[in-house]
Amino acid sequence: MRQTARISRFLIAGALLGAPALFAFSTGPRSAVSGVPTDGGGGTCANCHRTFAPANSDGSGMLEILVDKLTYTPGVKKKIRVKIQHPDASRWGFQFTAREASDTSRGAGSLTAGDNNVVRCGATIGMPPCNGEPEPQFAQHTQPGTFAGTRVGVEWEFDWTPPANEIGDITFYAAGNAANNGGTNADDRIYTTKITLKAEGACNLARKPTVRTIVNGASFSRDLSPNVFASVLGLDFEVAGRSRAASSGDFVDGAFPQQLACVAVEIGGRRAPITYVQTDQINFQVPVSTPSGAVPLTVILNPGRPNEVKSDVATVTVNSHAPAFFTFSGKSIAAQTSDFKTIANAADVPGGVPARRGDVVILYGTGFGVSEPVYQAGEIASGQARLRDAVTITVGGTTLAAADILYAGLAPGNISGLQQFNIRIPQSAATGNVAIAITVGGVTTASAGAVLPVQ
Ligand code: HEC
Repeated sequence: MRQTARISRFLIAGALLGAPALFAFSTGPRSAVSGVPTDGGGGTCANCHRTFAPANSDGSGMLEILVDKLTYTPGVKKKIRVKIQHPDASRWGFQFTAREASDTSRGAGSLTAGDNNVVRCGATIGMPPCNGEPEPQFAQHTQPGTFAGTRVGVEWEFDWTPPANEIGDITFYAAGNAANNGGTNADDRIYTTKITLKAEGACNLARKPTVRTIVNGASFSRDLSPNVFASVLGLDFEVAGRSRAASSGDFVDGAFPQQLACVAVEIGGRRAPITYVQTDQINFQVPVSTPSGAVPLTVILNPGRPNEVKSDVATVTVNSHAPAFFTFSGKSIAAQTSDFKTIANAADVPGGVPARRGDVVILYGTGFGVSEPVYQAGEIASGQARLRDAVTITVGGTTLAAADILYAGLAPGNISGLQQFNIRIPQSAATGNVAIAITVGGVTTASAGAVLPVQ
């Protein structure tokens, strides 16, 4: 859903750039041009006001977003000022928008216009009024708000009400025009700026969380190991109806965070990196150094704050390996062709294609142990990192020759809990739904659902 929305927004904004300027823009910009990277590639007023393009190329002016401090308290309104200056300019304009830092296509909170500015929504011509979050809102100048004839600089003031719940960092973007009052889009200086606000006092989860079970993130069995993706299932981990997926805006030192949306998981005395939270589920990765055996696990809400609340301690059993394939709805192994087409029965996954004998395919799983070089849980594998322990792979019951296992390791560019296998399907393999199994450290992937359609 989100992905589709983002693509259509890109196309709309892209089409705009070529559109003739038929509107009286001194009454306010007619499109999303605050410099948000996900709004049609980060367009700014300099799309049209091109004389000194790109934005910020004239160092004698500047644009600022002014707030009391670089934090927000969920639901608590804040004054925002946008200030622009240039020694030679004599007419002015701006556009401002607030976005979730982890997904800048999503608006964050709502805006209330002040004097000389107006709030609009949507990234299309006409800038319609707002329908509510997460649709992005924009504050921008009105025609009187261009302060024609005023020299040196001007300021606009408006209110912003953050979302009621903590959503992590929020980034404010603004673009401004220090214009020459010529009544055209020529000879105007465009500036952009952005600031990021952190949530403050935001963690107010009130109920004690209940841990029901802890499962392997791919097979949903109880098998866990160091480095594996896992899920805690239970109750009251998060405000009902709210979910939060970690993305690069949440990263700490380039890795997935050890608390997300006021939720932390402690396993074997260590905080685990978290990738996703909703009220009855937390997805996390088991730290590489977690010892084998019976290990305590606690869910901690509002971690490190005076209102911290912990679940009762659960106990999980950790083994050296807990290999499992990711699957499409439990039906076939999550796999791709070497040119990244999805391998699956088309009945299960629209657009899925079968694997062909003789071809190299990529299979995805978790729990196959640690890699060489070692990546800690939550870190992103920057390149190839092969599994430390040898694997045996069978396709339709026949063991693959070593030469047909091209790669067994972390999935480059992804979180280290994701493992990938590049294997060649033998010419002699059966066709139809073929069972595939991988054994590592004496443990074999669970067979349920682990098939690959071969043609
Ligand atoms: C799609 C093209 C386009 C975009 C994008 C655009 N403008 Fe304009 N702008 C114009 C045109 C054309 C004019 C001249 C007509 C008018 O004044 O309405 C203009 C005029 C203005 C003027 C009056 C200039 C003067 O010297 O009198 C201001 C101020 C202004 N725009 C601000 C902005 C700001 C701020 C942005 C970005 C947030 C922006 N515009 C983005 C096309 C655009």
